[in-house]
Parts: sequence; C-alpha cells; structure tokens
Amino acid sequence: MYQPRPFAASGAQVALRTSHNADGVSVWGLRARGRHTKTGHRMAADDVAAYYDELHRWTAKDKGFQVFSGFENDTIHRFLIDEATGAFSPDTIYKFIDPHIKAVGAPRGLDAGCGYGGTVFRCLKVHGGRWTGITISQEQVDYARGIAKARGVARGVGPAAEFYLLSYDAPLPGRYNVMVAIESLIHSADPAKTIANLASALEPGGRLVVVDDMPLDDVPERDRALLGDFKRAWRCPITPSASGWIAVAQRAGLRLMERIDLSHLMKPRAEADLDAALADLSSQRAGKTEQGFGRLSDAEIGGLHLERLLGRGTVRYVMLVFRR
Ligand SMILES: C[S@@+](CC[C@H](N)C(=O)[O-])C[C@H]1O[C@@H](n2cnc3c(N)ncnc32)[C@H](O)[C@@H]1O
Repeated sequence: MYQPRPFAASGAQVALRTSHNADGVSVWGLRARGRHTKTGHRMAADDVAAYYDELHRWTAKDKGFQVFSGFENDTIHRFLIDEATGAFSPDTIYKFIDPHIKAVGAPRGLDAGCGYGGTVFRCLKVHGGRWTGITISQEQVDYARGIAKARGVARGVGPAAEFYLLSYDAPLPGRYNVMVAIESLIHSADPAKTIANLASALEPGGRLVVVDDMPLDDVPERDRALLGDFKRAWRCPITPSASGWIAVAQRAGLRLMERIDLSHLMKPRAEADLDAALADLSSQRAGKTEQGFGRLSDAEIGGLHLERLLGRGTVRYVMLVFRR
C-alpha cells in the first residue's frame, strides 16, 4: 500500500503538494499561462483546475501513487520537521497556524485553495466554529463534500464544514474572521487581485495566514532558468517573493503580523539524487503524455525543480500572517 512520504525523507519526495509514486518519485506541476488579461487569468485557472483533476485521476489509476501528501489527514501540503518531537509530518504546519486561529475566538474560517479539505476538517475539530473551503478542482470539491457528509460535519448536519467549487479571485460566499491559504496562492495569476479579493471578505481584526514557496527577491543568475521551468511546470505564473506578497497585502489594507521562514524544517534531497530522479521521470514523460497524463509528468518534474531550488535556498518556504 502506498505510504505517504515526507519531503525527501525517503530520498523521494518533492514538493509535496503532491505525490510520489511507488518508485519514490514525487509529483507536481503544470504549465503556466499567466498572461495579464482576464482571458489569460481564466485560462490559467482552468489549467490549474485541469492539473489537480488529472492528479486525482492518476491516483485512481495508479494504486502506487497517491495525490495526498498527508494521506491520513487529507492534505496536499508539505511535510515539516516538528522540532519538539522530531516527527516529520503534514501536521507540523498547524503548530504555526493554530495561535492565529485561537486569537480570533470562534472561527468563521475560509481555506482558500482547500484541496481535499484536510485543513478545514482539522480546524473544525480542533477549533470549532464554521469553516468554508474553496477549490477550483471539481474532483477535490466532490471528495471533500463526501468526507464532510460521511463525518457528519456537512453544513446542515452538524458542525459546519462546507465546500465550494470557486476561485479565490471570485466573490466569496461569506465574510470571515480567519483565512488560511496553504500552498495555494502560488497559483495566482494576479496576486494583487487575489489578496484584495480575500481582504474584502476579511472582517476588521481578522487574520490571513499564507504559507507558500517564495523565491528570494534576487534570484541568483544560475537559478533563474530553473525557477522559470518550475513556474511553468507547476503553473505558478507569478510566484512572488515574500516581500512581493507583503507589498500587495499592504496595498489591500492588510498589516503584516508575522513572517516566519520554515525552510529549515524540510528535507530536500541531495542534488545527485535529484539528477537521478529527473532522468527517470524524463524518460517516462512521453509515455505518460501519450496516456493523457502530461500534466502529471509536468507535476513530477516541476517538483524536482522546486526541491532543487529549496535545497539551494533560492526558494524559501514561508508563513506570512496579515491582519486587517
Ligand atoms: C497544493 S494544493 C493545497 C491544498 C490545501 N491547501 C492543502 O494544504 O491540502 C493547492 C490548492 O490550491 C487550489 N487552487 C489553485 N488555484 C486556485 C484558485 N484560483 N482558486 C481556488 N483554489 C485554487 C487547488 O485547487 C488546490 O486545492
């Protein structure tokens, strides 16, 4: 049976919003088309949706592959070392996020880019309140709604967890006192628009927690092409730096409360291992594309690029917390 593997723990995983196959190959990515036009943005969003739906279908097809990074908690995000326990887990991130949820009292929470709903279910259990997840993947929203129903937490049944097939760039279904976005906003084709849209539905005093991969402001010359390859492969057209996110958030009326670099809690593999994995995945690319899984192949290869960039310190894994 597939065992989810933490980022590089097995010498296999990558960036982890993803997956890895039985050979220990990680997955991810897509080709970005983030032109600065309405049509371009819509195409980019459609492409990201197709990407996640394809990863879901590959999971169904290849039993050795699992789209979840945290199988046991329905998440698609990074494993991190818990420095207190030594555990390497997709739950570690909540140690950093939880204090900001507690601070708002009874949460009316939004998970912007919720995947299969893992953070919504976890926050509902730990913090109570009402939680809404939005994702642009039909497969994910169907799956998340199924879990909510099965666990008796769907809206109208008990404690409220609800899921919408909706972009974080579209009018949101409510107002919230806390918002969480883990490894999702990186897909934004217009970060200023995305943050302004989220901020418009955040109550005064409410918090927005963003966790994502963020390149340095000055990417070293030797890594520029690699970063471009990663962005295209994972369909992350802009990929702002931390200061880029902070600037757009401030323009949207948000104030930075906390900035933490979590990169040291990951375990990127050695470059020689990444070279071998890249050769392996590249050799599978034509076959996968022929079977209709070209996006999956992009995902896998993009994940390797990201892992290399994280290992070199050119991309950082950062949590930013803003207050309205
Ligand atoms: C790597 S997954 C992370 C999922 C989830 N945050 C987690 O930690 O498990 C990225 C998520 O971002 C979502 N996403 C990407 N672009 C989006 C958009 N424009 N609007 C809403 N969700 C989006 C994808 O559908 C996917 O659910």
